Amino acid sequence: MPGPGTEFAPVRPAALPHDAPAITAEPIAAGPEAVAGIEADALVLLLPEGGVGSGAAVDVDRATGGLLGRLAAAGDLAGKRFECTPLLAPPGLRVGQLLVVGLGKREEVDAGVLFKAAATAARQLAGRPRGQVAFLAERSWSSRETEQAVAGAAVGMQGQDLYRAERRRTPFGRTRWLVADPAAVTSGATIGTGVNLARRLVNLAPDDLYPQSFADEAAAIAGRTGLEIEIWDEERLLRERCHAILAVARGSHRPARLVIARHRGCDVAAPQLALVGKGVTFDSGGLSLKPSEAMMGMKCDMSGAAAMLGAVATIAALKLPLDVVAAIGLVENMTGPAAYKLGDVITARSGTTIEVHNTDAEGRIVLADVLDVVRGLAPRRIVDTATLTGACMVALGHDVAGLFTNDQPWCDAVAAAARAVGEPVWQLPMYPEYDEQIVSDVADIKNVGDGRWGGAITAAKFLERFVGDIPWTHIDIAGPAFAEKPKPWTDGGGTGAMVRPLVELARSLV
Ligand code: BES
Ligand code: MN
Ligand code: ZN
Repeated sequence: MPGPGTEFAPVRPAALPHDAPAITAEPIAAGPEAVAGIEADALVLLLPEGGVGSGAAVDVDRATGGLLGRLAAAGDLAGKRFECTPLLAPPGLRVGQLLVVGLGKREEVDAGVLFKAAATAARQLAGRPRGQVAFLAERSWSSRETEQAVAGAAVGMQGQDLYRAERRRTPFGRTRWLVADPAAVTSGATIGTGVNLARRLVNLAPDDLYPQSFADEAAAIAGRTGLEIEIWDEERLLRERCHAILAVARGSHRPARLVIARHRGCDVAAPQLALVGKGVTFDSGGLSLKPSEAMMGMKCDMSGAAAMLGAVATIAALKLPLDVVAAIGLVENMTGPAAYKLGDVITARSGTTIEVHNTDAEGRIVLADVLDVVRGLAPRRIVDTATLTGACMVALGHDVAGLFTNDQPWCDAVAAAARAVGEPVWQLPMYPEYDEQIVSDVADIKNVGDGRWGGAITAAKFLERFVGDIPWTHIDIAGPAFAEKPKPWTDGGGTGAMVRPLVELARSLV
């Protein structure tokens, strides 16, 4: 029987393994005898600083004849955050290795730290094939903490091996969570699958993932999770007056698509939450062409779309009693003979006219129409995620997402959800003064500010013009969507940023 979290296993590339690995809970009794009886290729213990004398560490210490205590006394097992100590063939245990991963200061351990620590352990162990890996949960963890640890292990064991014959990470045959709440293990595995789905879409090469193939993936996922799905092709986009999306797509031979996926977890007139994603499957910059170094990596420009698909699929798999709609605008920004030009004036679906000053500021143009489509559904609130601006990375660096809003309580809810699962976010201001920067001489607005200063904010100000009075928060994930370099808890590549916060956010509305 497939384990939990297999509901939206990958469909492409076809030649590579499909199934999310099995993750199960074993609510075994605590105590040194129980620990001594565990059979597995590896056993993972997550250890806070100075933590050898409490929790699961006590059982492991007793079962191993005081091994942990001796190592700690010698200063070799400090529990420093994300420090890995593999103890091979540990005495008294029936496991190939005991891997101790540090959690850092006990008072700073939260769901986000547990996600990363479990991911660190899994990433290290997945460096070669393993049949069974057991993780010890702590009784003191909340179900949210257990859930994030389980998700972390699922994410850490998955590398970016889509195109490699020799994998650098092999997901475990089976992951067992001991002493853990089975419901939290199941939901944690589902969340981990959602994050891995988003990562995989980002990691696919841009010639494999383009608007139609992204839509195909979305349709396959909808089939597995019970999402209602609509895919708008060019003809429908034209009928719907989505001239902004169509303008950006004109430089590519690959036509635009709009995906609308809806989870009707309860019976209400309008969606309680709308998730909007930027899905530029490749951003060359268009005629305002990017230089090579900046263009490399622009397969990640659909990370917002991937996050929204991962989130709505997870929300559906968790069967949250909520009506949630995800809307994803998909285009390739290219330089073909029909490409949109500088000086063009586009009439967006809302009727607002946009003067194009830079074809590389394409994400906001696409989102103008997607936001207007969503506005027509009259959702209670909107959140969008987009790899929108390099300026946001200048402001906040690689790891922190920028928040922008027209409604402070809604932005606070988004920030709280992100912090609850350990993804850092920081709000930037939306003073009316910035509106002057997007005034155009010939149209209602132009698609860039005056010069590059405050570029993340002028981009958000542009989006604000398309949401009306609906409470809206924009999340610029240009930094956190993609990791250039590996970290202890992840191989580089797509990170799945914002999938966990958005699931948490949806839950907070239930
Ligand atoms: N997709 C980029 C933003 C981006 C940059 C994402 C780096 C991830 C990493 C976006 O479409 C873009 O090109 N923005 C321009 C806007 C400018 C022309 C006003 C930018 O940030 O330079
Ligand atoms: Mn661009
Ligand atoms: Zn872009």
